Amino acid sequence: MKINIKKPHHLTDNDVTDEDVWMDRRNILKSLGYVGAGAILSGLASKNAQADAFSWFKREQQTAFTLSPLQAQKTVNLNEQNTAESVATTYNNFYEFGTGKEDPAEHAQNFQVDPWTLKIEGLVENPVTLGYDDLFSKFALEERIYRLRCVEAWSMVIPWIGFPLHQLLQAAKPLSSAKYVAFETIYSPEQMRGQRNRFVGGGIDYPYVEGLRIDEAMHDLTLLSVGMYGKTLPPQNGAPIRLITPWKYGFKSIKSLVSIKLMDKEPPTTWNILAPQEYGFYANVNPTVDHPRWSQKRERRILGSGLNAQKRIDTIPFNGYEEVAELYADMDLSRYY
Ligand code: MTE
Repeated sequence: MKINIKKPHHLTDNDVTDEDVWMDRRNILKSLGYVGAGAILSGLASKNAQADAFSWFKREQQTAFTLSPLQAQKTVNLNEQNTAESVATTYNNFYEFGTGKEDPAEHAQNFQVDPWTLKIEGLVENPVTLGYDDLFSKFALEERIYRLRCVEAWSMVIPWIGFPLHQLLQAAKPLSSAKYVAFETIYSPEQMRGQRNRFVGGGIDYPYVEGLRIDEAMHDLTLLSVGMYGKTLPPQNGAPIRLITPWKYGFKSIKSLVSIKLMDKEPPTTWNILAPQEYGFYANVNPTVDHPRWSQKRERRILGSGLNAQKRIDTIPFNGYEEVAELYADMDLSRYY
């Protein structure tokens, strides 16, 4: 399978002036394996304390979770500068573990991912249940380097590992009445402090739910990710399996999935329930439609930990994945935001 992805933001080495700092961190992480790198991270962070805008780097990382190496058979490369792994795994949105960017890395480490059950059901001929090992063995894994654009106007470039959602949907054989796909995150209040306490969890009614139209779900860009940076996902990034829809704002990319249900009606989605005037069902990255609190014209590309490892760049429609534009050809995207 070949995916043509345009590369409108090619970043050269010179664009990122303190790249050597984060490359150091990456290499150190690599040579040590992820486990145990926390002490070195915090040492480097204190050296750069003045320049470092992110408090999360100053914390010791408590990485008790084992990240196994994953073998990807194909790679889709963007030729853009990847975000440092140490940043993509410590600056997260996963409100089940708290609303602060550093909360998931801090509070998700004991999250149990094995055993795991993911069910694909609803309007299908052949309901499917996958266990933990199935997530890594039933489908050929691919590495896909995608841009991730959050509605909060920051973005990253992350090498995911996973398989296209359509492969799993095809195994379940959707009925012709299936028009939408509903996704649900695990509900486990004993493990997720944000689900136990509304204040910690941002006032969300859990479980976190999301949805796609069936043609969006069947699009080859839509990925079920089981890994990143060559390893299984850490819990803060949605282990053991999460959705990635790179042309949509990050909140559509629902984490730690336990249910995928084929439906005939548009399913409710968490952020739309919470603030419908701010978050639509579609949530396609669109620089011409502003969110009431964040202009969407530009974004802060986060590559590393210091202020110099961020760039302000223009946001492009569909986050640069123009091949999906045809899915919305007849729609007014300022109305269906
Ligand atoms: N999924 C669940 N279950 N809970 C969440 O809070 N946050 C979303 C999305 N998926 C979220 C979630 C948001 S707002 C973003 S931007 C991305 O996850 C962030 O993914 P990352 O932390 O891997 O960068």
